Amino acid sequence: MNRPVLEGLRMNVPADVKHQRLVEWVAQIAALTEAADVYWCDGSAAEYDRLCQQLVDAGTLMRLNPELRPNCFLARSDASDVARVEDRTFICSEKKDDAGPTNNWMAPDEMRALLATGDKALFKGAMKGRRMYVVPFSMGPLGSHISHIGVELTDSPYVAVSMRVMTRMGRGALEVLGETGSFVPCVHTVGAPLVAGPDGNVRDVPWPCNPTKYIVHYPEAREIWSYGSGYGGNALLGKKCFALRIASTMGRDQGWLAEHMLILGVTNPAGKKYHVAAAFPSACGKTNFSMLVPPEGYPGWKVTTVGDDIAWIKPHDDGRLYAINPEAGYFGVAPGTNEHTNPNCLASLKSDTIFTNVALTDDGDVWWEGLTETPPAHLIDWQGRDWTPAIAKQAGVNGKPSPAAHPNSRFTVAATNNPVLDAQWDDPEGVAIDAFVFGGRRSTTVPLVTEARTWAEGVYMAATMGSETTAAAAGQQGVVRRDPFAMLPFMGYNMSDYFQHWLDLGGQVAAKGAKLPGIFCVNWFRKGADGKFVWPGYGENMRVLEWMLGRLEGTAGGADNVFGTSPRYEDLRWEGLAFTREQFHSVIGIDKDAWQQELQLHTELFKQLEYHLPAELPATKARIEERLAG
Ligand code: GTP
Ligand code: SPV
Ligand code: MN
Repeated sequence: MNRPVLEGLRMNVPADVKHQRLVEWVAQIAALTEAADVYWCDGSAAEYDRLCQQLVDAGTLMRLNPELRPNCFLARSDASDVARVEDRTFICSEKKDDAGPTNNWMAPDEMRALLATGDKALFKGAMKGRRMYVVPFSMGPLGSHISHIGVELTDSPYVAVSMRVMTRMGRGALEVLGETGSFVPCVHTVGAPLVAGPDGNVRDVPWPCNPTKYIVHYPEAREIWSYGSGYGGNALLGKKCFALRIASTMGRDQGWLAEHMLILGVTNPAGKKYHVAAAFPSACGKTNFSMLVPPEGYPGWKVTTVGDDIAWIKPHDDGRLYAINPEAGYFGVAPGTNEHTNPNCLASLKSDTIFTNVALTDDGDVWWEGLTETPPAHLIDWQGRDWTPAIAKQAGVNGKPSPAAHPNSRFTVAATNNPVLDAQWDDPEGVAIDAFVFGGRRSTTVPLVTEARTWAEGVYMAATMGSETTAAAAGQQGVVRRDPFAMLPFMGYNMSDYFQHWLDLGGQVAAKGAKLPGIFCVNWFRKGADGKFVWPGYGENMRVLEWMLGRLEGTAGGADNVFGTSPRYEDLRWEGLAFTREQFHSVIGIDKDAWQQELQLHTELFKQLEYHLPAELPATKARIEERLAG
């Protein structure tokens, strides 16, 4: 094989790497970024330990108390680099219409000039003084027909260790690639070259990043370039960039779906197992729902996790839709996680976890808002400052104390730590989906649960879903926006074409004579006059899940409302929960005025998405309007 030699740079290509194009591309990016040297990750436990220790020595990670949190670390990011940056995320398709009105777009040539080829291209010299890590990974089980390989080049060792937790990373992925296998090239830099300061000394910071950020996708070339951030979905490129944005375009072309969905298994006392895939926007309860603990009154029921964030869904020969989780770990929201809300998640975090931007206790453990009712008397907050309830109160805004953990603080942990991991979680065949659930965070208007009466009605519900924005993305929080299919920030192509793709797939399943999955729309987040959530949520969501399964079997009752079918009070099981008819009415009721306004927002959305908007959607809307007027 022709091994490129770069002047003054050690490429360190392992002897068994025989993929010419890969090696050439690595050399090309190393030359562009002027990386100090190249390190090929093998994905071993020894390598993980070594890199974590290196990160501890550099001050990026802190080892937590080994007695309380064995093999766990805390990272504190730069205060400006704490969430996804949607306004800096681009879909650079050849044609602007293919990115659609919901995405930022720039012509690929223009973007390439800005990032890589122009005189002042951002990636030029961006890794100066830093090591470049070659991170080969598989989304989906190694070698499975359903999986796809990516290779991320990054100057962040934090990203390298995180990728080992979140994906099947290392040697195995390289073996699958062999000499000619195809892979999605993912280039990542924190954009902070290590160069000598005015005093001639080279000084690094614990969390290097750049105020300028670009998260860029070339859907035709199936390439990802990320600049300036080291955090989450901005930097762990297998996740949102690959498994959602690039994979959604693969799915469009090849007849499958890449979705922002958890996948759960639910087994009833008779031993019958169902699989449910649910799309909720960021920080709206996917991890929680995927690990649900059935409440009192549900003996013999069991919920198991296939995935907590992303689903790849393909039609099989039997006509049904099968889903796999392409990830191997969870990058989940810490705040709000506790023994009551998500005990399985808490159990997953006992060891071998990287925590980012949570608070540190005096005994070297972690804490976040909601972990315990009463916060410890003293903490070090996510920015490394002393925190006490009194300091928090003083630093707070609008009477809300300043949080010790960042609202988008997260844990990175392997799926295998989950005590309720589904036996089929890495089955390459995936699991047959019985129901799709879509749910937003809405303090008003949207009922607890509604079943779509037809596939088109379900696609309508998903397409018009609204949700209040959360800390998962930079920007204003708590404002209602349309978030179709919970995919607004993750769509790799034109949103209207995607709606059509969903309608087409439904048609395909029906044409094969297979049973279509049910489609449901949920809202755990309606609030009362006191500003508190009315529905108890978490484990109690089992009651809604049971109703949905009952609808699939034709055993659960319901009543039609203007846009679907919802349960009456007597259609849900209430054993073990004190929840009155009045309370139920306040989470299930349809307020006609609110729905008139809601439909206005659907009109605005459809205006925005006019180009290629499937005619079924305005037609479905017209029927809802009729019922609302009647
Ligand atoms: P991403 O990882 O950003 O895609 O988010 P996610 O959808 O997995 O969200 P997650 O399950 O981590 O939940 C986010 C927040 O919502 C946490 O603070 C939870 O405590 C809260 N939450 C989850 N489920 C419920 C629920 O049923 N009711 C209420 N009120 N809050 C919930
Ligand atoms: C989300 O924001 O939906 C996440 C976290 O799952 S991140 O990986 O940062 O996108
Ligand atoms: Mn997510």
